Amino acid sequence: MLRSLYLVYWCIASLLPLVVFCDAYQHDRLAVALEKRQENASAPLSFGSSWQVLATWGADPLEYVGGFRSLHYDPSALFRSSLPANGSAKWNISEASQTSQSSEAANATLSISHSNVNWDFLKIVYGWAAVQYQSWARGTLTVTGDQVQHVILYTDAVLEFWVDDTHYFGGDFFTFRNAPPVLHLAPGDHQIDLRLVRDVRAFGGILAPTIDVIIHAERVKGSLELVKPGILVSDVVGGRLASPVGSIVLRNSGEQAVEVIGIQPSHTQSPSNDSLGIVIAAGQTRPVAFNVSLPSANVSSLSYFITYKTEGEDGSSTLETTQNLTTTSIYEPHKITYLHPAGMASYTMLRPPAGNISCASENDSGLPVLLGLHGAGLEADNDQVSHALDSVPDLCAWVMFPTGVTPWSGDDWHNWGFADVEAAVNSISTWIDFVGWHGPGVNTERWIVSGHSNGGQGTWYALTHRPDKVLAAAPVSGYASIQKYVPYELWQPADPRRTAVVSASLNSYRHEMLMPNARGIPIQQQHGEIDDNVPAYNSRLLSQQLYLSGTNSSYNEVPGQNHWWETVMTTPQLVDFYYTQTKSNASLPRKLDEFEMVVGDPGDMGSKGGLRVLSLEDPGQYGRVHVKGHTITTSNVLSLEFDPIVLGTQSLTVDGSNVALGKDTAESSGGSSITIHKQNNEWHSLSQQSTNEDIVRSGRQLGAMTAILRSQGPFTIQHQDSNGTTSIALQVSRNLYQYFHADAFIQSAAASRKTNSTTGNLITIVLNSTLSEGVHPDFPITPSPGVISIRDGRGGKHAYGNSGAPSIGAAFLRPLEDERLELVIWGSNEDGLRQAARMVPMVTGVGQPDFVVLGAEARWKGVDGALALGFLDRQWEVTASSFLS
Ligand SMILES: *[C@@H]1O[C@H](CO)[C@@H](O)[C@H](O)[C@H]1NC(C)=O
Ligand SMILES: *[C@@H]1O[C@H](CO)[C@@H](O)[C@H](O)[C@H]1NC(C)=O
Ligand SMILES: *[C@@H]1O[C@H](CO)[C@@H](O)[C@H](O)[C@H]1NC(C)=O
Ligand SMILES: *[C@@H]1O[C@H](CO)[C@@H](O)[C@H](O)[C@H]1NC(C)=O
Ligand SMILES: *[C@@H]1O[C@H](CO)[C@@H](O)[C@H](O)[C@H]1NC(C)=O
Ligand SMILES: *[C@@H]1O[C@H](CO)[C@@H](O)[C@H](O)[C@H]1NC(C)=O
Ligand SMILES: *[C@@H]1O[C@H](CO)[C@@H](O)[C@H](O)[C@H]1NC(C)=O
Ligand SMILES: *[C@@H]1O[C@H](CO)[C@@H](O)[C@H](O)[C@H]1NC(C)=O
Ligand SMILES: *[C@@H]1O[C@H](CO)[C@@H](O)[C@H](O)[C@H]1NC(C)=O
Repeated sequence: MLRSLYLVYWCIASLLPLVVFCDAYQHDRLAVALEKRQENASAPLSFGSSWQVLATWGADPLEYVGGFRSLHYDPSALFRSSLPANGSAKWNISEASQTSQSSEAANATLSISHSNVNWDFLKIVYGWAAVQYQSWARGTLTVTGDQVQHVILYTDAVLEFWVDDTHYFGGDFFTFRNAPPVLHLAPGDHQIDLRLVRDVRAFGGILAPTIDVIIHAERVKGSLELVKPGILVSDVVGGRLASPVGSIVLRNSGEQAVEVIGIQPSHTQSPSNDSLGIVIAAGQTRPVAFNVSLPSANVSSLSYFITYKTEGEDGSSTLETTQNLTTTSIYEPHKITYLHPAGMASYTMLRPPAGNISCASENDSGLPVLLGLHGAGLEADNDQVSHALDSVPDLCAWVMFPTGVTPWSGDDWHNWGFADVEAAVNSISTWIDFVGWHGPGVNTERWIVSGHSNGGQGTWYALTHRPDKVLAAAPVSGYASIQKYVPYELWQPADPRRTAVVSASLNSYRHEMLMPNARGIPIQQQHGEIDDNVPAYNSRLLSQQLYLSGTNSSYNEVPGQNHWWETVMTTPQLVDFYYTQTKSNASLPRKLDEFEMVVGDPGDMGSKGGLRVLSLEDPGQYGRVHVKGHTITTSNVLSLEFDPIVLGTQSLTVDGSNVALGKDTAESSGGSSITIHKQNNEWHSLSQQSTNEDIVRSGRQLGAMTAILRSQGPFTIQHQDSNGTTSIALQVSRNLYQYFHADAFIQSAAASRKTNSTTGNLITIVLNSTLSEGVHPDFPITPSPGVISIRDGRGGKHAYGNSGAPSIGAAFLRPLEDERLELVIWGSNEDGLRQAARMVPMVTGVGQPDFVVLGAEARWKGVDGALALGFLDRQWEVTASSFLS
């Protein structure tokens, strides 16, 4: 029972609205370790057990006085703060609830609370926003003996931290323990400052508003290591692996780069010396995918050797890893591995149609895919997820439980997580060939989508973003949008023009605005009446919005039930829905006489009724298309693609004028789909359009800054071979792996000029200098030493910073060829660079537009400290909706 309570507690998804701008949180506290050293030769690492705590408030208001790191413990100091009694906060001392040390590891558990805040009253007025606060805590990590210790530091539930004078942005907020930083610590005391952020989605909105964190240091050997023992492999079905994709995760805990030369089965005699070209920077963690196969039938485990070379050393070394195999019936939910578009391995649980099944409606095109999207904090191979539909074994469908890459589904099943769902669905065809399946076929274009909690939210995402593929959907106990879940009420005050830009960056994820997209799709909603984790308000609101936009759903609110219960996915209503909808012979895409489509980000959006929006006039505003028969009216839409067969016509009226879609047009567009563009307020078909396609923003480049996540292949992170930029590059790589399991190759800009073989997106880290020439000949954002200039949509120039100015940081997208993107992280100095690096997407709900310029004041003012922020249009020009101070 405890176990399932624990799971329920994590079943929501969390986002940190304010991480980046540091402003949603209202409370800081510090802890200073006392000089209470535990000398112990057998335990070289130890944490002090006493922590001193100060509470103060605001975004990170301590930045106004130079940052927590510059403050010293002073029991009489008062800090102005908006939450505690008397409007002031003080240092406080908190004992770690537990400390532990052994010869290999040390840790401290903190549970921080504040008795001088009336949380219950604040919650009455501000709701859960009131318990979304931040604190700082300071402690000591002591290294005894006379040896430098190589250490990894796990920072569970911590947002950011400092170790002595080194800043780490990207603690392990969701306790993934994927990519801890590697430290090389000299003997003596090391000051640890932790920035703690209370997140309602991760910590709960109902429980006491404490912040509970664990900091755990562990000795490592200072060379290449496996992050976890074993290999990610598929299960064995019918005597063979269900897929040939395997993956290991390696961490270089040494101080020199390491190159992985080969990965071979242990039973082969000669280790190969081919270079795999996989370089792992000092301190970096990288996933490595490779082909696996069974040496013979009936083996119960696999062993592989990893051969590697350390830079500056002769010879090579090896590591061995062994993985026990799971053998199961082909009809049971089992693990299959495949590659995510960004190049690393992921897995999904697949339950093929039952052996004895008879599906009357099965046509040539195969059975549909029934997706079950899991809640936050759960692995798809957890029985609670993969066996949720065991009581309905005979569905006429391919039942699939994807991961979305991580327990938090990457970014809550949005850009990164949804790309994983699509890769998982497409892997079924590969599986069919690979295992020699002779049962019913699959139609990977027909989905029935369901999911619980964060997965219920993911179901809404699928419904509103892939309407032409969704046969039916059953969103259960999901949230409508981050903003409706935990309001941003207590963010630092900011100019509404600035907050409007940040808010518009989240347009694609505000499901309550996208309900028209669901028209025509059968929907079975379900929510527990007394859900205190994701309030039923979310489902009630969406059911009402569906009705108000002329569509409908069956809404089932289960009396007396909370967030999760044993049969939450198999209530009689849901079971009936699964049986009915898996047998549906509705043809897709649906032909609808009248419908509306609302588009936040065309890069995220599939077609509806055979019609797709390819680009918006202003990406900072929703685009809308209303279709009635052959008459289309649009708002804020710049180009449209449609399937004339679905629309059943060769001519259309678009915004009042006739657009002929002659045979020529169809032919010149090279297939059945036709593209039309709006130019000078008139719509033309593609062939009449003359633009330089190279510099037109399209496809995977569309969307706000999260578009960088649509990488085809691993990311490349480029630095300038300087201390300031290499450490930021490593940090960005660590966050990408920690939060997305993403792979990144770190290299210096100088080295990159010699190789350009990568297919993935690029993140460039630049300190106080100009950028190398981009693909766009006249890009509107141009950094130079000390200053960044932006050309607005009317040609006006805006310059930020000057040689005497305090730090400036900027993050912005630039185009690369082949629909690739570059994310530039620029700073006039190291502080500005660190500030800009926070913009790299990490958790959902933050809201990063296409470009942001941050002044030094952003550290305590948050969004209001942004000097410029906004969007780039189809020509990569700054839109009128942008804010330029
Ligand atoms: C309240 O704050 C004032 C200064 O702002 C300070 O002088 C006073 O001691 C505080 N009172 C308490 C009870 O902390
Ligand atoms: C704390 O460290 C001890 C070893 O000193 C280890 O056994 C234990 O699992 C650690 N706890 C956590 C939560 O990391
Ligand atoms: C030293 O550490 C070991 C291992 O954790 C422990 O058993 C022992 O009690 C410690 N000794 C002292 C003096 O703290
Ligand atoms: C000080 O810390 C203690 C121990 O964590 C806690 O119980 C108390 O509420 C804190 N006091 C304030 C004023 O935050
Ligand atoms: C690689 O192996 C081949 C034979 O297995 C050997 O001839 C060659 O010298 C090796 N190359 C290196 C760089 O070790
Ligand atoms: C692998 O299987 C062997 C033999 O059944 C067992 O002894 C071992 O503990 C297993 N290893 C893991 C990591 O589960
Ligand atoms: C980094 O800093 C260290 C010491 O501060 C210095 O010795 C080293 O040369 C610097 N490296 C680079 C690449 O600037
Ligand atoms: C880099 O890319 C360009 C353009 O795609 C190509 O012409 C060139 O040969 C490439 N250079 C290398 C070293 O691969
Ligand atoms: C940035 O570059 C300019 C010009 O080279 C120089 O004057 C300035 O000192 C640099 N700023 C920093 C923080 O290095």
